[in-house]
Amino acid sequence: MQQYAIRGGNPLVGEVEIGGAKNAALPILAASVMTDETVYIENVPDVRDTNVLLAAMDNIGVMVKRTGRHEVTLNASQIHNLVVDNDNIKKIRASYYLIGAMLAKYKHAEVALPGGCDIGSRAIDQHIKGFRALGAEVTIEHGLIKTKAERLVGSHIYMDLVSVGATINVMMAATLAEGTTIIENSAKEPHVVDLANFLNSMGANIKGAGTDVIRIKGVEKLHGTEYAIIPDQIEAGTFMFAAAITKGDVTVKNVIPKHLESITAKLLEIGCEVKEADDCVRVVASKPLHHTHVKTLPYPGFPTDMQPQITVALALSQGTSIVTESIFENRFRYVDELTRMGASIKVEGTTAIIEGVSRYTGASISAPDLRAGAALVMAALAAEGYSMVDDIKYIERGYEDFHLKLQSLGAQIELVETERDFQKFKLKTG
Ligand code: EPZ
Repeated sequence: MQQYAIRGGNPLVGEVEIGGAKNAALPILAASVMTDETVYIENVPDVRDTNVLLAAMDNIGVMVKRTGRHEVTLNASQIHNLVVDNDNIKKIRASYYLIGAMLAKYKHAEVALPGGCDIGSRAIDQHIKGFRALGAEVTIEHGLIKTKAERLVGSHIYMDLVSVGATINVMMAATLAEGTTIIENSAKEPHVVDLANFLNSMGANIKGAGTDVIRIKGVEKLHGTEYAIIPDQIEAGTFMFAAAITKGDVTVKNVIPKHLESITAKLLEIGCEVKEADDCVRVVASKPLHHTHVKTLPYPGFPTDMQPQITVALALSQGTSIVTESIFENRFRYVDELTRMGASIKVEGTTAIIEGVSRYTGASISAPDLRAGAALVMAALAAEGYSMVDDIKYIERGYEDFHLKLQSLGAQIELVETERDFQKFKLKTG
């Protein structure tokens, strides 16, 4: 099994190119089944989650052609199966986007219940509520969510909580429904807006994406399109925090600075310099970092997907910081690993109380999920001595060439498979 071998201590310095947003790519790829015409998508990240989704789509008869590492051509005119059920698809959360997309077009979809990172209970009641409001029957049987409708009819839907997934799924189903749907208390994340733009480029009539009321006038059918996915806000934020954690100087390129505002604000608060240009942001951490408080919130608040990264930075900052996780109840599982590297953090429910320490020391650690895994790698890059990071399959779900991009910034990190490889790495870097 592959692991990362890391020798910490080098500040990360340089420029790094940010890829397409995983959490926009997943619904956009799924939504491409909503037309029989050909769809061409650029800036698709080559990460495990998008590849698993594409394989599942291929499996049900979607013609999937990779025309380049980040370009995909899809044609769904020959779908032969409205049941998506295989072991792989259960591993990704985004499998459920095929429900909204296929229900919209075929008025029928059966998809294995989603898995994804183990960061909390991850209910789907709001998705179900939305589908039912549009007139679909929804049942859960034998591990599948089954939806069927004679016809879908627009409706006024109030989401009980802000959910990215439910907003996206209901928006897709409503796109081909009869009449108008209004989704209130919708999620405002950049990937929700990107999906709406993608659907509109196929002939949909969606207004208000990016605000908390989305209005969708149903259309009869969608047509083919060419579309480029937005840059990944969380990949960019991760590298911005890598600069803070390793006391480095990193420029993230090909980003939309507006999407990074909450991240930038926290970096400034803890004492980093942040310089923005049109499509890049530079973070310089030349002074000691200091404490702050942060609470994760739906966009435009501080993202839950950046919570482990800021915690790793705050645990190396002077003073006492408090981090409150308000989206997922189980997102502090990495804290035990960080403690083994010398951090002083007490978790009480959804709050972490952090007493800053002056250094981490290397250790053997496991990635418990995608973002926590990336954050632990950054802790190891700042730590004195060597670390081994296990379970990197989680990191590969959402970061393309993570170790290569870190290497290009001067990190001493390598993929290894055996203890012997690790010893060789030590000899080379010692
Ligand atoms: C998306 O998950 C992302 N995943 C997550 O990214 C991200 O952490 C999350 O949004 C929040 O931004 C993808 O885009 C594939 P939610 P999602 O529905 O859609 C509760 C990453 O690291 N809820 O916004 O599953 C839910 O339990 C991943 O890239 C209900 O109660 O998140 C949670 O507490 C991890 N009922 C909260 O809402 C529902 O029907 C927000 O969940 C739906 C959600």
